Amino acid sequence: MGGWNVRKRITVNAQERSLTRSLSWPHLMAMGVGAIVGTGILTLIGIGADKAGPAVLLSFLIAGFVCACAALAYAEMASTIPASGSAYTYNYVVLGEVVAWIIGWSLILEYSLVVSAVAVSWSGYAAPLLHDWLGLPMALMQGPHAGGVANVPALFIILVIAGMLIIGTRKSATLNLALVVVKLSALVLFVWFALPHFNAANLEPFNPYGFGRTMGEDGVERGIMAAAAIIFSAFYGFDAIATAAEETRNPKRDLAIGIIGSMLVCAAIYTVIATAALGATSFTLFANSPEPLALILREIGQPGAAHFLAVTAVLTLPTVILAFFYGQSRIFFVMARDGLLPRGLSQLSAKGAPLRITLFTAAVVGTISLFFPLDEIVALANAGTLVAFSSVALCMLILRRRSPDLPRGFRTPLAWVIGPIAIAGCLYLLASLPQKTQAWFLIWNVIGVGAYLLYGRRFSVARREAKEAEQAVAD
Ligand code: ALA
Repeated sequence: MGGWNVRKRITVNAQERSLTRSLSWPHLMAMGVGAIVGTGILTLIGIGADKAGPAVLLSFLIAGFVCACAALAYAEMASTIPASGSAYTYNYVVLGEVVAWIIGWSLILEYSLVVSAVAVSWSGYAAPLLHDWLGLPMALMQGPHAGGVANVPALFIILVIAGMLIIGTRKSATLNLALVVVKLSALVLFVWFALPHFNAANLEPFNPYGFGRTMGEDGVERGIMAAAAIIFSAFYGFDAIATAAEETRNPKRDLAIGIIGSMLVCAAIYTVIATAALGATSFTLFANSPEPLALILREIGQPGAAHFLAVTAVLTLPTVILAFFYGQSRIFFVMARDGLLPRGLSQLSAKGAPLRITLFTAAVVGTISLFFPLDEIVALANAGTLVAFSSVALCMLILRRRSPDLPRGFRTPLAWVIGPIAIAGCLYLLASLPQKTQAWFLIWNVIGVGAYLLYGRRFSVARREAKEAEQAVAD
């Protein structure tokens, strides 16, 4: 694999390119904010509050800081290697095929489970509306963990988004922008109503469960870091932008602006919303609620605003699903193009969408969303993301040393400080995830290594080319 240097990889990607270049940085920023603002602030704030009390504010800061460091490394790598596949591709270039496979396998977990998680979160806001408007039974709108039979609305929204991707709806950048504006205005409205109710007494006791992850008597792991490991999900999504590299007009510049810009906008929004939410009511009110922000608005006497927020969440959360679903199909596409997954999966439809991947993904993530609880899905998605992010920061540092003169559209400031913080921070957050999640993540990786040995290694394009080159030299 040693012959696979950066330039060759980019050239190969360019030669094999079959996706159209139609995006520039405003699309990417809108795509970024559309992908980032979702379950994290709308729903996980409740799960985070259960785990850390008002100190979930610190969880937001810690997760946001680590994620921002990783975003800087991502921006540098995306602007250096503007090819589809994001972390998978960077690892392929820098650390070779085996590591790239492991990271790609983690990305598949991340993107798939975020789609499931956001669908469950969407259902959390949609279910009360569907119950009120159409009389649908709650038992069919919640998973078994919440006393229901299955979360049918979550499956429904996944199928709708899959259909949209298949007919090429993603290309409607204007619709995405409009939905992002609507989503942000609902959040501004929340702050507008909640902030005047700020009462410092609601922040007492500020840190009931301590800093590090500890097991509670009820079997739930709590603490600021335990919450941060879940809340981390609120901040990512900018990486979905990098998967669109081959469809970007000026990738070296636009990817960095899109990634860092959308990350900063979202971090600012979250800080204000979390402060307003925690100051307006006791955290015990909305801890673990499936629709915490709407609940807070009702509690402070704003049922109309609560209704508006719920409807807005229902209308706009699909942008997050769309972005991750799209990212998932592109990761699959690139891995299949490299021969590590069956090539048949990467076939594009007449509309330019990878049809088989989309249908396969919809079937798997839809089934997960029917039956599993949000916190467990998110925790496992975060495990994949944290591994991928730390690897990107590592790749950035290695490439700085190995190829210092390589043209970079964006250079991470203080790279030798930011890079190690991103790596250590991601690994600490990984260690703060529930033990059950860590066990599942290990199983996922064992399956991944098995799949590589049985399939990827045999059909790898790079390996075949290397063998052919060796053969030619021998002849
Ligand atoms: N950042 C995305 C969300 O919060 C994953 O839904």
